[in-house]
Amino acid sequence: MAPIDLIIDTDPGADDVVALLLAMASPNELNIRAITTVAGNVSLDKAARNARLAREWGGREEIPVYAGAPAPLQRSPVYAQDIHGDEGLPGVEVYEPRKGLAEGSAVRYLIDTLGSAEPHSITLAMLGPQTNLALALLQAPEIVRGIKEVVVMGGAHFNGGNITPVAEFNLFADPHAAEVVMGSGVRLTYLPLDATHQVLTSEARLAQLRALNNSASQRVVAILEAYIKADMTRYDLPGGPVHDACVIAWLLRPQLFEGRRIYLQVDSREGPTFGQSIADWHGALQQPANVTWIARADAQGFFDLLSARLARLM
Ligand code: RIB
Ligand code: CA
Repeated sequence: MAPIDLIIDTDPGADDVVALLLAMASPNELNIRAITTVAGNVSLDKAARNARLAREWGGREEIPVYAGAPAPLQRSPVYAQDIHGDEGLPGVEVYEPRKGLAEGSAVRYLIDTLGSAEPHSITLAMLGPQTNLALALLQAPEIVRGIKEVVVMGGAHFNGGNITPVAEFNLFADPHAAEVVMGSGVRLTYLPLDATHQVLTSEARLAQLRALNNSASQRVVAILEAYIKADMTRYDLPGGPVHDACVIAWLLRPQLFEGRRIYLQVDSREGPTFGQSIADWHGALQQPANVTWIARADAQGFFDLLSARLARLM
């Protein structure tokens, strides 16, 4: 099967880095056209630097990294440094990577690339707030034509929220952007907390990764060990959720996941439900389905895949 033409939009972010390394270790299935960065877990300058660091660690410096939106469409910026640390990369040394950013903004890159792509040929993996893609769609709605599908880490229904009782961070950070993307009619799949909170680290799974004994796996273990503490404490979890890498795992092994087509709406009204994903799992609203909502994940299958792919890196 031909590799998936893929653009990864990301706000690295500990779990974003795991997702990037998994993707970069899978060149036979994923043709990464570019990494576009957005403010989210940390400010844009740190997110862009961290994406360049991940690219260096993955040995894939031919992949261009673009800087995108420094702030959400409308709301004031919100960050997650309490989870990802001040530099957005806990547990490892953070330094200025060898290779710089590509020229031009991520939004311009998305407009130019999607606007000139073969019809429905490019997949987007959205690992942070969807601001870049929303801006591109607002400026050039016709780029929908170049998009095959958009796979989003975001939302929560059965699980409850992780930034408010009902909202997941990526949607809370820019619900207006999520609404623009949903309103564009692109084919959408969501990997919400319902699924990612099933994909939890454990001592055995970290040992599985540590045993690979290469730089990439050592960095992933160090990052995960530092990053999972906050979530384990806050949500009384037996391990930490590797949210964003689930998007890449879904692209590589969709059979590890289960979901259904449902109607989804995002609440962008000020108030206690700001950023909530209203996932109509039982069809109560009798609206046409607009997303594939993933609600189950095979956690050990995920870690076996991650382990096999990290083993390929240096
Ligand atoms: O809610 C989890 C999401 O928010 C992940 O993408 C994590 O990296 C943060 O961006
Ligand atoms: Ca992220």
